[in-house]
Amino acid sequence: MADIPFHDRDGFIWVDGEFVPWRDAKVHILTHSLHYGSGVFEGDRAYDGEIYALTDHSQRLVNSAKLMGYDIPFSVEEIDKACKDTLAKSGLGSAYVRPIAWRGSEKMGVAAQNNKIHLAVAVWAWGDYFADKMKGITLCMSDWRRPAPDTIPCKSKGAGLYMICTLSKHAAENKGFNDALMLDYQGRIAECTGAHIFFIRDGELHTPTNDILLDGITHKSVVGLAKKRKIKVNKRDIWPDELSSFSECFIVGTAAEITPVRRIDDYQYVPGDITISLVEDYDKLTHGKLKV
Ligand SMILES: Cc1ncc(COP(=O)(O)O)c(C=O)c1O
Repeated sequence: MADIPFHDRDGFIWVDGEFVPWRDAKVHILTHSLHYGSGVFEGDRAYDGEIYALTDHSQRLVNSAKLMGYDIPFSVEEIDKACKDTLAKSGLGSAYVRPIAWRGSEKMGVAAQNNKIHLAVAVWAWGDYFADKMKGITLCMSDWRRPAPDTIPCKSKGAGLYMICTLSKHAAENKGFNDALMLDYQGRIAECTGAHIFFIRDGELHTPTNDILLDGITHKSVVGLAKKRKIKVNKRDIWPDELSSFSECFIVGTAAEITPVRRIDDYQYVPGDITISLVEDYDKLTHGKLKV
């Protein structure tokens, strides 16, 4: 499946309340969001037929759209149902779920106040985000920084915010790394291109203060799991000169789940007991075998 282009697959995509054959689920070239980056999306994962933290994702989608200045014409409950129905129709038990909302094509130009807002949900099989993830991935520092809150609606999972993520990840891959680590507009450690980051030192977790970052659903789960194990979590500003002081590092996100990091530029980390137990706990949590 991995090599089959996304536009040329079997199945159905839920579009504005109806199932459309996968290959017919198209937008017109003159769609506002394609030109002006006004789409918002989510990435959920299903495990054994259940979508983990489904309502948190649907609520965040609605919030993301509000931050972009529009209301999705479906309620959180209706978005939950669309995701569940699309998963059921796909026949998959473990899958990635991608709801996306966007401004349509009634008017072209920067202003598009009355363009129709659309919603679609697609589901596909997606295994580990990184191959051999338990070996630990490698990161390099990006040249691009996460923007200040007065330059972009940075709490929205808006498509436009991913422009610098794609640039950063391409640059990292071209240098032989798996992903990029981005600083924020002040020079603090921020996040990877699609995941938040945690460090470990002396048995405690350290993770960036989340004032400009997406409110991470996996981040919240991992903080809950750590607390359950009585591991202290320090949410604070982390500066690059601290990178050499940590012993372990991992990134978290719906797609990446918990992925150990073995290298950031010239700094080396060795996944140890804490990282490995949290990976195991997260696996149980997402499969409904543990609660936080
Ligand atoms: C830029 C970015 N940071 C962090 C995350 C992790 O967020 P979550 O755990 O809610 O998937 C994501 C994924 O949505 C992301 O795209």
